[in-house]
Amino acid sequence: MRIGVPKETAEGERRVALVPEIVGKLTGQGHEVMVERGAGAEALIPDSQFEEAGAKLVDAAWDGDVVVKVAPPSAEEIRKLARGSVLIGFLAPLTNADGVRSLADAGVTSFGLEVVPRISRAQSMDALSSQSNVAGYRAALFGAQEMGRFYPMLMTAAGTIRPATVLVLGVGVAGLQAIATARRLGAIVQGFDVRPEVADQVRSLGATWLDVGVEAAGEGGYARELTEEERAQQQQGLQEAIAKVDVAITTALVPGRRAPILVTEEAVKGMKPGSVVVDLAGEAGGNCECSEPGQTVIRHDVKIMAPLNIVSTMAEHASQLYARNIEALLALMTSESGALELDFEDEIIAGACVTRDGEIVNERAKAAVAAA
Ligand code: NAI
Repeated sequence: MRIGVPKETAEGERRVALVPEIVGKLTGQGHEVMVERGAGAEALIPDSQFEEAGAKLVDAAWDGDVVVKVAPPSAEEIRKLARGSVLIGFLAPLTNADGVRSLADAGVTSFGLEVVPRISRAQSMDALSSQSNVAGYRAALFGAQEMGRFYPMLMTAAGTIRPATVLVLGVGVAGLQAIATARRLGAIVQGFDVRPEVADQVRSLGATWLDVGVEAAGEGGYARELTEEERAQQQQGLQEAIAKVDVAITTALVPGRRAPILVTEEAVKGMKPGSVVVDLAGEAGGNCECSEPGQTVIRHDVKIMAPLNIVSTMAEHASQLYARNIEALLALMTSESGALELDFEDEIIAGACVTRDGEIVNERAKAAVAAA
């Protein structure tokens, strides 16, 4: 199999889809890996390391049997893909109607990491989780960095400092990692989600569970959108809790929808001066009413950060984890003789496929494109 690894071109994207360790494994299995010159530069992986791992350095890596990417391809990149070729990467299938339609029109067989079924067998391919872990870790550190207070309790000759309180709103993979990281740094941590089943996971990390009496588990283990009434009840409960914390980290997402507002401007007003909100939902519009995606702003003496592509601030390890996800998915697409073999009877292959034979085949993507 010929595998192409282009350099990412999306703004702020520093990751690369394969790292030398995985390239070495793939070339060892007899695959040909073509890496665009400079593809790893932003993740501080020099071309020479890819070459040593057996990759062929090229000026354009778009003509492989399989092209592996991180960010959804631009219109220009889609034009570079051959009809019948296979693309694997994040495709934003529920929000990127033009891109998905163009991939179908271009006759590309595309696989979106967002729609890999979240079943046990696919855990090694779950790039949403691997990248969310990076985001959650980084968010907890941003909170520590930007607040002029300690996370841990300090007992010194100059007196005692009380530990900071961190509230994590939305406890999926990123939220759990944010909780674990803030706990390791000694903060007192609370977690909140509309899926009550995560309460035990929150407690097992040494944090407490905030209950505001709203539950909204939806399809496939994800949250659903709240009703107006539920939203009002949630906001009231949250406002009181938010006023007491030093750092609020928000990670709440509902697939294909604008992110829910969990931290209203009223709640920000109630926070102590110098407190920090780290909003990880910036790409989906933000969880804080005061967030400006991609910016850090100060409102009512509170610092509100809504970084975009926070994962790219740790491009090296993020790429390493991502590359392992890609390796696992490629293994599922490889026949015993090492050729590309797509078994659409396989739940993972079928579930992850977004476009094929000129059509949009993923039902959720199809519905999202029709509604756009
Ligand atoms: P996500 O990134 O879609 O959302 C983050 C969190 O925000 C979720 O916990 C969600 O419940 C929460 N949320 C949404 N609306 C909210 C609101 N109004 N208020 C408060 N919280 C709100 O979630 P993620 O991290 O992708 O996880 C989604 C599901 O996938 C979870 O059930 C998780 O356990 C499951 N999962 C399963 C895996 C598997 O292999 N079996 C692997 C990883 C995750």
